[in-house]
Amino acid sequence: MNMTVLTGKHILLGVTGSIAAYKAADLASKLTQAGAQVDVILTAAAEKFVTPLTFQSVTGRRAFTDADLWGGEAHILHVGLGHSTDLLVIAPCTADTMAKLAHGLADNLLTVTALAATCPLVIAPAMDGGMFDAPATQANLATLVARGAHIVGPAEGHLASGLLGKGRMLEPAEVLGHIRVALGKAGGKLAGRKIIVTAGGTQEPLDPVRVLTNHSSGKQGYALAQAAIDLGADVCLISTPTALSAPVGVRLVPVRTAEEMKAAVLAEAVDADALIMAAAVADFRPKRVAADKMKKRDGIPQIELEAAPDILKAVAGQTERPSVVVGFAAESRDLLDNASEKLKSKKLDLIVANDISAVDAGFGVETNRVTLLFADGRKESLPLMGKGEVAEVILQTVTSLLE
Ligand code: CTP
Repeated sequence: MNMTVLTGKHILLGVTGSIAAYKAADLASKLTQAGAQVDVILTAAAEKFVTPLTFQSVTGRRAFTDADLWGGEAHILHVGLGHSTDLLVIAPCTADTMAKLAHGLADNLLTVTALAATCPLVIAPAMDGGMFDAPATQANLATLVARGAHIVGPAEGHLASGLLGKGRMLEPAEVLGHIRVALGKAGGKLAGRKIIVTAGGTQEPLDPVRVLTNHSSGKQGYALAQAAIDLGADVCLISTPTALSAPVGVRLVPVRTAEEMKAAVLAEAVDADALIMAAAVADFRPKRVAADKMKKRDGIPQIELEAAPDILKAVAGQTERPSVVVGFAAESRDLLDNASEKLKSKKLDLIVANDISAVDAGFGVETNRVTLLFADGRKESLPLMGKGEVAEVILQTVTSLLE
């Protein structure tokens, strides 16, 4: 299994009485699959919608209810659950539980635990139309935010009452993303650092409908952005259009051409600690972009190309540049020679070389086999790994270069 910020973490999941409680089972399952140890506390109202067995079945651990607050282990449980925990997430969180948390009420196992816990708190509100916007709820929310709670959602959409409005619990995958952000910020080695990641293949227009582009899927870049989030960084992801959704917590700067990417990188680089150029940037672009669609009746066009800007070279020429600059070298031959030449000519601290001629590495696939080449001449060959794992190794390397 891929090691992530969730691996081995102890997560406490509070479930309260909302129809969205069924989504909490999926969240518990996702957290468990990511390697977290998940303990669940259901309020009495939550038990009307889902059962402890639902959660025990996905976490493989006992789920707690209010009966435990009055049981034989109560003296340990009522503070113990919150003390050994890396993060408390309450999803779904009703207006009632939010009110209790804001005012420090402790009248059930979940609120007792929350009051005693000192770990980060993530709250995913779920309630019906009007309840979220009610002044009382908004005041409670402001109190919780001021105390450092991460309030995630709610989303707009169809509510249980049939109304449309703001009150739907975020989808479990999004809540999971917010949990990763909160864990990263709480103890990650890149907390307070700004990291820029570029991703995807640039698109150089020929006319209003056609572009010159390449096979980059953006997967390695998006995995790098997630790995930086997991370490607590402020992440700016400068990306061309891809089929991927941006990791929760990144600031996405959408671009299309090499020129747009260069402008975005130079603007963001001023106060960044590291730049990781995973994007496949065009080397050549059409010299002229037709204002109107090129028509068949006009014959086969001759396309003249010119050089696109080299973004890493532009960064190398700046006086204020990030402390660590990382490039990628996608090569189909003479991998290490070409990569070390780029390392020098682009003034990089690290270059990640990958052989795109292999079927299991490079463009589009889920895996990558890379060699890290450092400015001081060190070399490190990594075995075939998932792009997520490659990203983690690169971010750990960037972290140690920054230290
Ligand atoms: N790169 C860049 N600007 C470009 C082209 C590439 O900043 N116009 C960056 C890529 O994001 C990557 C590194 O430079 O991090 C190497 O990219 P690559 O395409 O392998 O190298 P090129 O400079 O294009 O060299 P060559 O054409 O010789 O392969």
